[in-house]
Amino acid sequence: MESVQAIKQRFGIIGNDAVLNRAVEKAIQVSPTDISVLVTGESGVGKESIPKIIHQLSHRKHAKYIAVNCGAIPEGTIDSELFGHEKGAFTGATQTRSGYFEVADGGTIFLDEVGELPLATQVRLLRVLENGEFIKVGSSKGQKTDVRIVAATNSNMFDAIRKEKFREDLYYRLSTVEIHLPALRKRKEDIHLLFRKFASDFAVKYKMPTIRLTDDATNLLLKFRWSGNIRQLRNVAEQISVLEQTRTISSDTLRAYLPDSGSNLPAVIKTTKARGDFSNEREILYKVLFDMKNDLNDLKKLTMELMQSGNGHDVQQKNQGLIEKIYGDDDDTIDNELEVLPLTDKRSPEIEVIDNANDKYRFAEVIEEEETLSLHDKELELIKKSLERHNGKRKLAAAELGISERTLYRKIKQYDL
Ligand SMILES: Nc1ncnc2c1ncn2[C@@H]1O[C@H](COP(=O)(O)OP(=O)(O)OP(=O)(O)O)[C@@H](O)[C@H]1O
Ligand SMILES: [Mg+2]
Repeated sequence: MESVQAIKQRFGIIGNDAVLNRAVEKAIQVSPTDISVLVTGESGVGKESIPKIIHQLSHRKHAKYIAVNCGAIPEGTIDSELFGHEKGAFTGATQTRSGYFEVADGGTIFLDEVGELPLATQVRLLRVLENGEFIKVGSSKGQKTDVRIVAATNSNMFDAIRKEKFREDLYYRLSTVEIHLPALRKRKEDIHLLFRKFASDFAVKYKMPTIRLTDDATNLLLKFRWSGNIRQLRNVAEQISVLEQTRTISSDTLRAYLPDSGSNLPAVIKTTKARGDFSNEREILYKVLFDMKNDLNDLKKLTMELMQSGNGHDVQQKNQGLIEKIYGDDDDTIDNELEVLPLTDKRSPEIEVIDNANDKYRFAEVIEEEETLSLHDKELELIKKSLERHNGKRKLAAAELGISERTLYRKIKQYDL
């Protein structure tokens, strides 16, 4: 069995905290079994490495690993995403489709944000856990699958159970073994170590000397609450590495990069996530879906008019406003808005495709190491991905990115996309 140190090195896990080491050790111990594992811990503590370790060290490592962000899939489609559907099961189900539980047969499924699963889906999941059986949406025939489930949550599951949002029996099934990752503020001795590691990585990446903290700045680093944990620490290290000319960082300079420092100090409990550290992806998705629904209704109206009148030109003239609304006006004028894209180090894995050819699995990702992109590359990447996801429709991409269509247009020109 590989040692905890070797595994940490292999999966890029930095830190010597005893609770962290115990978490990695537990992942190694359970990996040869099929036991369900629940990974718990605040946002940004590194939960995503645990299912990867478990899968890679298991006999399933040559089969598929699928990570699904349960919180990002609309309630209406989640059963079909996870378990598949039969042709004709609902409007738009033009052909039979396999879900993740069928595709990952023999492999591992990582159910991230499992607390967000709708109750009806929880019943289906319980059935898979109990006898390895699932039923496609619209089918009456049970199918067998052999999938190992690792789930994760950053919310309080007991609270969800008390509020009857999560089934208690499912919770106990999922958490046969619980692996808890500690918050960064409870790993004081790892904070500076992680910061130095990130500073040195970004120095290599941006070909600049490594930033160093003065003693005062180090003290501030240790006192800060880090409610966004390692993700937030890494973002701060990256921003300072890129933006500061002087390579010795004082506490005053560091303070400027710590959002809302007053309320982030340990004495104050702050539950809301700082905007800019992690954009609220679910809200963005809801907005995009809402806009798409509106566009769809407008398109239905146009199609109906076209069918009834049979004269495209008349319909076009009568509905100029609507057409512009749907297809966007190609206004070339560029203003000087100084908008910046919300930059996060997450790459929205929940909407990454694993089957590009068929574009079927929109809410999952296959195992893949997270790469660190420069601020410029990140922005470019975000824009490209968003445009791809929306088949080049600027209106939808702009809504998703949280910028105006005009700014998006300017950036498309700027990056020559
Ligand atoms: N011990 C560590 N060493 C180095 N980098 C780490 C470590 N833990 C986490 N990270 C980095 O921190 C970032 C956040 O980790 P991750 O995405 O696993 O968080 P999470 O616990 O899943 O958060 P959320 O609940 O918000 O999804 C990632 O970029 C990850 O690579
Ligand atoms: Mg996560």
